[in-house]
Amino acid sequence: MWEQRNEIASSTNPVETVDFGVGAGKKAYSTKIIKLGKIVRLRSPSRSVLKLLYRITKYYKPENILELGTSAGISSIYIKSGNPLSNMITMEGCANLASGANDSFSKLGLSNIDIIIGNFDNTLEDTLKKMKKVDFVFLMEITVKNPRLGILNSVYNLQTKIVYLLLTIFTGRLEWRMLGIV
Ligand SMILES: C[S@@+](CC[C@H](N)C(=O)[O-])C[C@H]1O[C@@H](n2cnc3c(N)ncnc32)[C@H](O)[C@@H]1O
Repeated sequence: MWEQRNEIASSTNPVETVDFGVGAGKKAYSTKIIKLGKIVRLRSPSRSVLKLLYRITKYYKPENILELGTSAGISSIYIKSGNPLSNMITMEGCANLASGANDSFSKLGLSNIDIIIGNFDNTLEDTLKKMKKVDFVFLMEITVKNPRLGILNSVYNLQTKIVYLLLTIFTGRLEWRMLGIV
């Protein structure tokens, strides 16, 4: 998996990205053209966090997994590989990134990963209804503008038995917290 990550991280292919998250600042969204490899190097979790994600899903075997912020699909690959039999939905605002992630999933033979494209503000409610039960949620705090409110509440209120991992990548410091265990 790390080889796959490195291959994507060294890609010089330009991607036209749409960002509804922190990158958009005060605007509703922002667009820019950026090399795929740079996106991975800047936005994806470190190798140790990726390994942790893999170990968590391998150990707890969550059946229903939700990820907010697919980007190039790096964390999705580790999460899904820990429990290949899980049902996984990963959500992404940028259709071009989602398409690249989908190609990577196919290359690695990872099936049963649905990518929902669009702004979480418009897609999350229906996705949660569709999932009914969520056993594991992953998002990076830089994904949403005010992560402790709104989106996280919708996810957390869904049910009580939830493994919920939050990565905090503010001010260059990384910490992780697990707030509930199945
Ligand atoms: C930190 S990156 C995710 C990194 C990814 N998990 C990985 O392993 O590479 C956050 C992603 O969330 C997406 N995003 C942020 N806010 C969003 C929103 N409101 N709706 C849809 N996508 C959003 C961005 O487009 C970006 O690709």
